Amino acid sequence: MPTHSIFNYAVEPIRQWKEGMNADAALRDFMKRHPQFPQPGREKLIRAVFAYFRWMHWLEKDRLPEQIEAASVIQAKFTSDPRSIKDQTLAARAVPEWVWPELDFGPEPEGEARKFAWLRSLQKTPPLWLRARPGTAPALAKTLGHCTPATDPLGPDALHYTGAADLYRSTPFEAGAFEIQDLASQIVGTICAPQPGETWWDACAGEGGKSLHLADQMQNKGTLWCSDRSIRRLDNLKRRFSRAKLFNYRLAPWEKPDALPTRTKFDGILVDAPCSGVGTWARNPDARWTTTLKDVQELATVQLQLLNKVAGSLKPGGRLVYAVCTITRSETTAVAAAFSAAHPELEPLALTASPAADNPPSAVRDPYSLTLWPQEHNANGMFIAAWRLR
Ligand SMILES: C[S@@+](CC[C@H](N)C(=O)[O-])C[C@H]1O[C@@H](n2cnc3c(N)ncnc32)[C@H](O)[C@@H]1O
Repeated sequence: MPTHSIFNYAVEPIRQWKEGMNADAALRDFMKRHPQFPQPGREKLIRAVFAYFRWMHWLEKDRLPEQIEAASVIQAKFTSDPRSIKDQTLAARAVPEWVWPELDFGPEPEGEARKFAWLRSLQKTPPLWLRARPGTAPALAKTLGHCTPATDPLGPDALHYTGAADLYRSTPFEAGAFEIQDLASQIVGTICAPQPGETWWDACAGEGGKSLHLADQMQNKGTLWCSDRSIRRLDNLKRRFSRAKLFNYRLAPWEKPDALPTRTKFDGILVDAPCSGVGTWARNPDARWTTTLKDVQELATVQLQLLNKVAGSLKPGGRLVYAVCTITRSETTAVAAAFSAAHPELEPLALTASPAADNPPSAVRDPYSLTLWPQEHNANGMFIAAWRLR
């Protein structure tokens, strides 16, 4: 058991963050160095560290342990009464100033309300979403307990988990019965909708969160090519595919940035591009204080380059899906518009909004993209656009 308070332990990862490590990595490092730290204590520690980053600009005390404790007090107060903090105070302190011109909350007067609802969603502990294997969500919910199915038809296998079990060590997880995957990411996979027997390419596959979903929808038939420039991430992808007993994939490491990793032509390509992650600021609150406008601008260039590189790999009639877990204009609508302008051979596809995302209503919404807002989905923010080769 911990010999001193959680707030004293939380100092360690926060100090590492101040030295340049991201909070997730610092927490993983803490857990490795303290293997005996009990499970309930681990969760409290994670909550205390993240509360510190959410409420950082409210803290007046000098000593770090006292600041961390004060942040947890504000978090508890906000959770029981979200109106305990004024809208304008949230706007001034919860996010960095540079982000405002990058966000589009839609027409007034609803835009202003949407802005404050977004800020409030960032200050809450985010939900934990699971993706059950296709069609098995009701049975999995029964096995695990504490699960509520998503109401969004674009997340047909999504379950909101509110229990306290360490799911990574549960028998159903080890048997490949589910993945821990945010609802917004699941919606990306649903929109891709690859069919059994098709050939798809997940060009930024990373550790395979979305690749697994695509392969599952293909029912182990056809081929999903998985690329990434990180071999370490692709190694994890391999492990996850093996746990899920999915074999309809091929690895194609993207080693030379200027050369395509394959000459194959595809029925569909997903570019789940590297991005600033502003859509994950509830889940990764420390990133608000390290991400810069320069990052947003540089990543927007990378995103457009990636789309331009893969565009020639579609079969006629093939679909290209662009996704980023951010909501900044530069990385979303601006990238999609620049790409559309440069590729008249590609027809932008209308995306039907899910009920929660149909805000602003379709009458004023750009029908050729989908912005999933955290406050409307109780999930990460995400932007999706799609094209078809004419
Ligand atoms: C948003 S993450 C992908 C997450 C993954 N699709 C998932 O659902 O788990 C973006 C990925 O793009 C990869 N990446 C970054 N720059 C790249 C590039 N120029 N070419 C290919 N992959 C790149 C990163 O290594 C990272 O794994």
